[in-house]
Amino acid sequence: MTPVSGSAVPKEVRGRASELREVLARHNYLYYVLDQPEIPDGDYDQLFRELEQIEDQYPSLRTKGSPTQRVGSSRATPFRKVRHLVPMRSLANAVTFEEVDLFRGRLRRVLGEDPDLVAELKMDGLAVSLTYRDGELLQGATRGDGDTGEDISANVREVASIPQRIGHAGDVVFGSFEVRGEVYMPKLVLEQINRERGAVGLELYANCRNAAAGSLRQLDSQVTRSRRLAAFFYACDPHPAGVIGQWDLLSWLSEVGFPVNAERVLLPEGRGAEALLEGLHSRRHLLPYEIDGVVLKVNRLNLQDELGSDSRAPRWAIAYKFPPEERETTVRRIEVSVGRTGAVTPVAVLDPVLVAGSTVSHVTLHNEDQVRAKDIRVGDRVVVRKAGDVIPEVVRVVLGDRPPDSVAFEMPRRCPSCQAELLREDGEAVTRCVNPLCPAQAQRRLEHMVSRGALDIDRCGPAVLSQLTAEGLLSGPGDLFLLSIDDLLALPGMGRRSASQLVAAIRARRRPSLGRFLYSLGIRHIGERTAQLLAEHFGSLEALTAAQLEEITAVPGIGEVLATSVHRFLHDEEGGALLIHQLLAGGVEPQAQERIEGPWAGLTIVVTGTLTARSRAEAEQAIRSLGGSSANSVSRKTSALVAGASAGSKLAAAERLRVPVLSEEQFETWIESPDEFPAGVTSRPADMRDPTE
Ligand code: IVH
Repeated sequence: MTPVSGSAVPKEVRGRASELREVLARHNYLYYVLDQPEIPDGDYDQLFRELEQIEDQYPSLRTKGSPTQRVGSSRATPFRKVRHLVPMRSLANAVTFEEVDLFRGRLRRVLGEDPDLVAELKMDGLAVSLTYRDGELLQGATRGDGDTGEDISANVREVASIPQRIGHAGDVVFGSFEVRGEVYMPKLVLEQINRERGAVGLELYANCRNAAAGSLRQLDSQVTRSRRLAAFFYACDPHPAGVIGQWDLLSWLSEVGFPVNAERVLLPEGRGAEALLEGLHSRRHLLPYEIDGVVLKVNRLNLQDELGSDSRAPRWAIAYKFPPEERETTVRRIEVSVGRTGAVTPVAVLDPVLVAGSTVSHVTLHNEDQVRAKDIRVGDRVVVRKAGDVIPEVVRVVLGDRPPDSVAFEMPRRCPSCQAELLREDGEAVTRCVNPLCPAQAQRRLEHMVSRGALDIDRCGPAVLSQLTAEGLLSGPGDLFLLSIDDLLALPGMGRRSASQLVAAIRARRRPSLGRFLYSLGIRHIGERTAQLLAEHFGSLEALTAAQLEEITAVPGIGEVLATSVHRFLHDEEGGALLIHQLLAGGVEPQAQERIEGPWAGLTIVVTGTLTARSRAEAEQAIRSLGGSSANSVSRKTSALVAGASAGSKLAAAERLRVPVLSEEQFETWIESPDEFPAGVTSRPADMRDPTE
């Protein structure tokens, strides 16, 4: 594709690129930080490739912050941040043999020869970087955003196969180096842990990778220990003396005491990779751990150096990702389920089938149009896959096997829960139940309220909640907090021990942070991050409730749609206001979010460009810890802009709006002496400043 100059970018393309950047950033966050991906890897890859293609064609759209230029995204967590000495890069992907050939063609062109390759399994776990000094394990860190990860040293020490000390034929290996590899959970361990979690009503891990990530990011390292994680290592920086290839490096790692995967193959120059890749693909499910592909790496380290890396991935390696596993099964029924906002979703109930490591029996069909487009009918044989080993989907119907008497799917006219008439507005794909008293919606709202990002009440799964409702123990969500052990004993199958554990779990969450509380209310458009922003800005429920619509709109990061939604919710006497009243009456006390008092209270600071002393996230953390807020865009509300190297449009905006601009050096000096404000910085917005000041 020929690149096109900046001025020629059509508006739709620019819009699509910006939309893709936003969507990918959100999915990166869900995947890397929350370990809760919402879309299969295959779908993510497709979006990623679309953006890459647009950027290839219109290079002016390839911004520095684009997800194609970064590895993930980082956010505040309880773990200390650590900067990697060498960035932890990602890998370029190939999903077809042709793409593998293209990769090898590029190598040939650049190197003038066909290099030997090493094939390794692509483990589906969590990347870690371990620092050793004079043979002693000093630190373990996650990948994080590739530049900065989290210090998980205490947990890493609880992974049995990770050596605390390494040596070479009895000798200590001197000097400092970082070893990289993947921590994973064996398949059998996942099964056992999920059985145990299911028995006590805890949410199950979707797959080995999520389980490994969740287990490594525990605050209590004894929990990590109980998860029986394992690891394989494949890289070391700097390279040990005398090691000249990836193949030798793997042997060296193994000799000094690291677990190294024995499934590795040296492909001599020019030898085709197809048979090897196909062979590994077919044996995938016989392995005791999950893999999602094969990594091909140029063997010789000097050639790796010659090829180098771009900001995201090395040019000397490629990950061949296995095509998503597909299985056939039969559609038994098509049910419709009602969500917490009343959206009605058709769901295919299938003969249970094992796909990519777990049993699938229910698959969302999204909406009426999607069912029609694929023409999925009861009785059909369908092909199901779990592209990212997470969310299953129906790929297509096997039309040749369709029963002769099958009938096309019709969306029901009435809500399956409350029988109210369903509505589908013109131009909308979603069908809704708009009855505010619909019991199914109430149940979904309850499920949301107790979910992990919200009040995070353990042992309170959908089954328990619906039993509580059926027994008449919950007339509103507030009643949850008033339940006694004796009340719970009325539930079928509930023993005294479980009842007291559930009561304890509920009580433990009676004092949520204001952010979690706001998120738990299920206000339309208000996700975790927005709830947190509101909590930080207003500090207390009272202050937020007393705020005028304009004050909410004025919060950095909250637009008009969000503000209107929150304001309307809080003042709806039969909806939000009533719900809050019930929760407070049940004894829930949202904790006034500490507005960190500090010398920068009332200041909103935007950081842009590349900083050298700290990452963007660390700079924002520093701002917050001094009492200020950070924002993403420059407006009249901005108190100062910190401009690192190659700052672009934000710098121009700050100059136009007369927002004071600080260099990185000025910013660092100010952090050192936060009471000494740089010239021009005040907590008053730019448009209220006296131009003569
Ligand atoms: S090499 C700079 N080798 O895949 C090279 N990565 O998609 C970086 N992974 O972050 C990685 N098995 O978490 C490499 N044998 C292997 C791997 C492997 C799994 C993971 C690793 C990496 C991710 C990139």
